[in-house]
Amino acid sequence: SEITLVDPWNRTIDYLRIAVTDRCNLRCFYCMPAEGINYLPKKELLTYEEIVRLSSIFVSLGIKKIRLTGGEPFLRKDFISLLENLKAIPGVEAVHITTNGVLTYSYLGQMKALGIDGVNLSLDSLNKENFHKITRRDEFDTVMKTLDGLLDHGFNTKINMVVMHGKNTQEVVDMAELASTRKVSVRFIEEMPFNGSDLSTSKQNWNHIKILEELKVAFPNLAKLDSHPSNPATLYQVPGHQGNLGIIPAYSRTFCGACNRIRLTATGSIKNCLYDEGVLDAKQLLRSEKTNEEIREILISTVQKREKDGFAAEKNRKVDKNISESMSTIGG
Ligand code: GTP
Ligand code: 5AD
Ligand code: SF4
Repeated sequence: SEITLVDPWNRTIDYLRIAVTDRCNLRCFYCMPAEGINYLPKKELLTYEEIVRLSSIFVSLGIKKIRLTGGEPFLRKDFISLLENLKAIPGVEAVHITTNGVLTYSYLGQMKALGIDGVNLSLDSLNKENFHKITRRDEFDTVMKTLDGLLDHGFNTKINMVVMHGKNTQEVVDMAELASTRKVSVRFIEEMPFNGSDLSTSKQNWNHIKILEELKVAFPNLAKLDSHPSNPATLYQVPGHQGNLGIIPAYSRTFCGACNRIRLTATGSIKNCLYDEGVLDAKQLLRSEKTNEEIREILISTVQKREKDGFAAEKNRKVDKNISESMSTIGG
């Protein structure tokens, strides 16, 4: 379409991230406390009809890429039907998934048939015991089976590893080695303060600079690859390796200047930035008498409220308050 969403800082928004559930079947300690978070009653979640309607309006406004996130988006009943209906929206160029890989395996054939454009898999350890320490669940073998299945089916696959001091930093090089014989992008992510509790996360001493230094020691001929400015990952490759490596400065946020994304949370709230508290109640809009045309206008004006740096703006609003939201509600 000719109409596009452009914010006051001249950033074009063409990427919509949708969290489909606030539930999760893992308990990663950097995301949630052991007892989980207070899940919402199902009626508080957007229905698939509502998600597809809102997505169609967004696509008419120039959104090209949609990413669906969990936890494990397949926790939601008949998630495949949502994928099918989103792929069918005229003008949508790509539908991607971010998953923890616990339930995905048995849907790989159907995902392939639908033409899913890429899958990002969360995997923080290659060691069964350590995986259990981090996720508090015993699903390591299942997730590894999903990884192999993704590659066997030829999906564009990325691995997301949150790098945590004293928890899995000893595995950074092993994780990078996965890309030597597999066509996968292994991405190292700085830990962010979204752990569903008021406890602050461990110090961000494993920042992107330190991760790169670690990789350079193990792979002295590491080469930098080009990547699109809106890609949060800076990409590298070890010559001769099949896959590549990425570093995501998720906490340092060196990529905000080229941010092209808008978010829809599981509860139907629109976020202009990962760090804002929600700038529009889309659920209420969708459940009102508003027409698609009226909703379009509201979305256009919502994007006009985008701040240059959402994290800085949010910090100014609430001094000294830790962010107590869980990543499973936001979807990353
Ligand atoms: P691609 O579309 O493959 O580039 O994926 P992605 O990196 O946008 O998505 P993914 O769901 O795999 O997220 C990877 C990591 O990047 C997660 O930890 C996200 O929370 C983080 N991330 C994604 N977008 C943003 C953002 O706008 N700001 C910050 N600070 N982190 C982000
Ligand atoms: N910091 C950084 N990344 C996180 N993720 C979840 N919680 C955090 C956090 N506190 C990652 C997951 C998943 C992606 C969507 O977000 O590993 O791959
Ligand atoms: Fe772990 Fe992701 Fe589930 Fe959070 S939403 S507990 S990070 S798998």
